[in-house]
Amino acid sequence: MYFKIITLHLLVGALTITAIDLDVTGEWKTDLGWEVICTWETWRNDTLQSVRLYNNGQQFMIYRPEKHGQSRTEIFRTPEKIMNVDCAITTDKGQKGRCILILEPYQPPLYDFTYTCEVSGERPMFRMGKKDFHVRVLVPPSNAELTVITSNDPSSPRVTLNCSSSGLPAPSLQWTVGDNKVQADFARRGWNGTSKLWQSWSSFTYTRSDPTQIVACTPEASSNSEIIRGKKAVLHI
Ligand SMILES: *[C@@H]1O[C@H](CO)[C@@H](O)[C@H](O)[C@H]1NC(C)=O
Ligand SMILES: *[C@@H]1O[C@H](CO)[C@@H](O)[C@H](O)[C@H]1NC(C)=O
Ligand SMILES: *[C@@H]1O[C@H](CO)[C@@H](O)[C@H](O)[C@H]1NC(C)=O
Repeated sequence: MYFKIITLHLLVGALTITAIDLDVTGEWKTDLGWEVICTWETWRNDTLQSVRLYNNGQQFMIYRPEKHGQSRTEIFRTPEKIMNVDCAITTDKGQKGRCILILEPYQPPLYDFTYTCEVSGERPMFRMGKKDFHVRVLVPPSNAELTVITSNDPSSPRVTLNCSSSGLPAPSLQWTVGDNKVQADFARRGWNGTSKLWQSWSSFTYTRSDPTQIVACTPEASSNSEIIRGKKAVLHI
């Protein structure tokens, strides 16, 4: 039984090696959004027929050099996002080329998505390559930034701190004094349309007593039931 499964995998692997070579990579770009790049390379004696792009299994663009020429660029707008696609071939018959997708969110994205690139060669071989890329809605929380909000009375033992971090989904900010978790006085978050990230901030007021005590603020985000922490900020008061 196990043997059969292994053989099947090996077979699939062998078949994809003889098909079109395809690679899809993606990353979050500061102040821009996600950039996903599909690159391909067919056999030298093959000719590119088409490149199809899919979002969650739905085709949203096709590029055919025969019809569109050396490149095709398209912009797709929805109320939530703008998708900019630029496909181009770098060899005569399209044996090599790439499609760059830039996905700029206008509103906080909620769901992960799968981007698929499918490259097909011309007859008589009709070779094909297809690859998925999972885009996770996650930009880990930035390092916490702690500031002391100056009080009107410098001799007062009361200190108010402000902590902030940005990310996607919105980071929550956890305060600790020494080893103890403490409750923030209040927390806010706002969507920043320039960075396309949530900016969270939280303030905490406490009374100085033990000078050896350390106050820390740790940004945390939860994604697919995983907790991702940003670098905490600490203050010795
Ligand atoms: C195309 O090239 C590959 C090697 O890159 C070769 O194995 C294959 O036989 C060639 N096919 C034709 C139809 O020339
Ligand atoms: C705390 O920091 C955030 C982000 O830098 C800022 O928007 C907010 O006004 C600050 N809050 C206070 C009370 O200063
Ligand atoms: C929004 O993000 C931009 C770019 O990252 C940054 O310069 C700006 O200060 C942020 N605005 C707020 C209100 O945090």
